[in-house]
Amino acid sequence: MRKKRPSLFITFEGIDGCGKSTQVKLFARTLERQGIRPVVTREPGGTKLGEGVRRLVLPRASTGMDPRMEVLLYFAARAQNVAEVILPALKRGRIVLCDRFTDASLAYQGYGRGIELGFIRELHRVACQGLKPDLTLVVDIDPRTSVRRARKRNRGEGPDEGRFEQEKTGFHRRVRQGYLELIRAEPRRLKLIPGEQSIGAIHQAIVARSRPLLVRRGWKGVK
Ligand code: ADP
Ligand code: TYD
Repeated sequence: MRKKRPSLFITFEGIDGCGKSTQVKLFARTLERQGIRPVVTREPGGTKLGEGVRRLVLPRASTGMDPRMEVLLYFAARAQNVAEVILPALKRGRIVLCDRFTDASLAYQGYGRGIELGFIRELHRVACQGLKPDLTLVVDIDPRTSVRRARKRNRGEGPDEGRFEQEKTGFHRRVRQGYLELIRAEPRRLKLIPGEQSIGAIHQAIVARSRPLLVRRGWKGVK
């Protein structure tokens, strides 16, 4: 019987429009080219029920949502994603790539909106069943650049997901600072990826940052 490779849980973070969704797709494609089929998921969402929460929490019509309702909804969707998608995939020895996870709640609801970090960590403990990413790649960018990119992208989209993109730059700055704090607090797990460069260059940086961990876990040859 072929030995099952150890699972890996990698999350992608950063402020809106930093380019992380582009990078999740590229990284998944690179892994696929090497014969590794990752499980790709996102938050809020990733499951049928979680996508329902996404449709509730993101549109402009939800402007004015109480920050406590908001944080509980993100964790409601996350609990389902962990139970239905992430943990089962990790149990099967898969690599899971997740576009945002608990660090987004700490950065946006904690640093951005002022919800107590200890409360968010407690929600994480209960909702995520002790699960922690092995590696978190934070694409770091100036909010002015990212808001510009996100606006451009949203113009080409259907039903809007634009509530956060209307936020003032001050909010995005606090979120960015939040991510930088999280990196300082856990530098072994969270890695800063400079985001003001080409899509290809960011991808290369992400591959370089992930390779040591992949190799350590027995996933050889990721170029
Ligand atoms: P996020 O998921 O972080 O919101 P996306 O990956 O959806 O960001 O990217 C937002 C927009 O910016 C998209 O239109 C995308 O094509 C574009 N984009 C992504 N990365 C870069 C980059 N490095 N340079 C310029 N534009 C980019
Ligand atoms: P996402 O789909 O990643 O948006 P984008 O591609 O614009 O970065 O995330 C949707 C929004 O939800 C984004 O503005 C960040 C926000 N969010 C939180 O505030 N807290 C969370 O826990 C999560 C997962 C997302």
